[in-house]
Amino acid sequence: MILSIESSCDDSAIAITDIKTKKLLFHKKISQEVEHSIYGGVVPELAARLHAEALPRILQQVKEYFPKLKAVAVTSTPGLAVTLVEGVTMAKAIAVALDIPLIGVNHLIGHIYSLFIEKETQFPLTCLLVSGGHTQVMEVKSLTEIETVAKSMDDSFGESFDKVAKMMGLGYPGGPLIQELAKDGDRLRHNFTVPLHQSPLIAFSYSGLKNAVRLAVVKADADKSQYKDIAASFEHIATKHLTMKLKKYFKTIRPKTFAIVGGASANLYLRGQIEELLKPHNAELILSELKYCSDNAAMIGRVGVEMYEKEMFSSLEELDIAPRSIL
Ligand code: KG4
Ligand code: ZN
Repeated sequence: MILSIESSCDDSAIAITDIKTKKLLFHKKISQEVEHSIYGGVVPELAARLHAEALPRILQQVKEYFPKLKAVAVTSTPGLAVTLVEGVTMAKAIAVALDIPLIGVNHLIGHIYSLFIEKETQFPLTCLLVSGGHTQVMEVKSLTEIETVAKSMDDSFGESFDKVAKMMGLGYPGGPLIQELAKDGDRLRHNFTVPLHQSPLIAFSYSGLKNAVRLAVVKADADKSQYKDIAASFEHIATKHLTMKLKKYFKTIRPKTFAIVGGASANLYLRGQIEELLKPHNAELILSELKYCSDNAAMIGRVGVEMYEKEMFSSLEELDIAPRSIL
């Protein structure tokens, strides 16, 4: 069995996965949404302290599996340095204490493998990752053959929902809150410009749309009855930006299997619009179960199983969390 740990942002999670059957034997996640909500976003230092409290509490519940563990897998990049280090330090301690190998998992690959929890893999696929930290399209052939073909030049899709929710004083995370508010709104009420619509680039950008929404919120002058139309128009344009760029990309490749992963892949309007886009291509859409769209340790364990089989282990020194350099 493999023990896996996730602490790249604001979710503390631990899972136990059976290597042979890929069955998920245990999974527990403690989210910090309530604690960060009053700040309208994740406060890294607070997140780190909450991981330090939550991770050992979950670990206590999996002690019975310790004698059967063959490796410990942990998210090692990308993420907030101060929170990653909490999970990585715990993983190193377990690896040393039980004398088992350490596996450093890339969080983005984890999101891709959220599609295959308790399942066999299905490659090749074209994958749209929409999370709080990333918006990118990847061509995935295998665990080690992943090519990023388009990405955001500034904010991410999920992050733009968080920021719009913050502007409206709704709380955090913004995705589900905006989705709920947008349900009864008029998607065409505000004619926001679709980002990069005149650019031939297959890339994403959300900072301009975010500012256009900010102006609409200011204009509403705290009249909250107008927020649902702003939320609906924002969700519509944010999604249209993705589908327009994907449509352009599909002129160069013919997607056979398409996947959407990451926390924002839970967005129902996005799911519906992508389904429509794929129809003329007769492509299959695969999605993670809703509970595994956002950060979790089950996806890290699923990658851990693949890496264990390929003996992709790391030494204690190799799993080093360095703050991101700006140079
Ligand atoms: O993958 P994830 O849990 O964490 C990162 O790796 O970033 O994604 C979290 C992001 C947040 O920005 C959150 O607002 C967004 O996913 N999100 C959504 C929805 N549910 C979560 N965005 C849009 N619509 C949703 N229903
Ligand atoms: Zn994530």
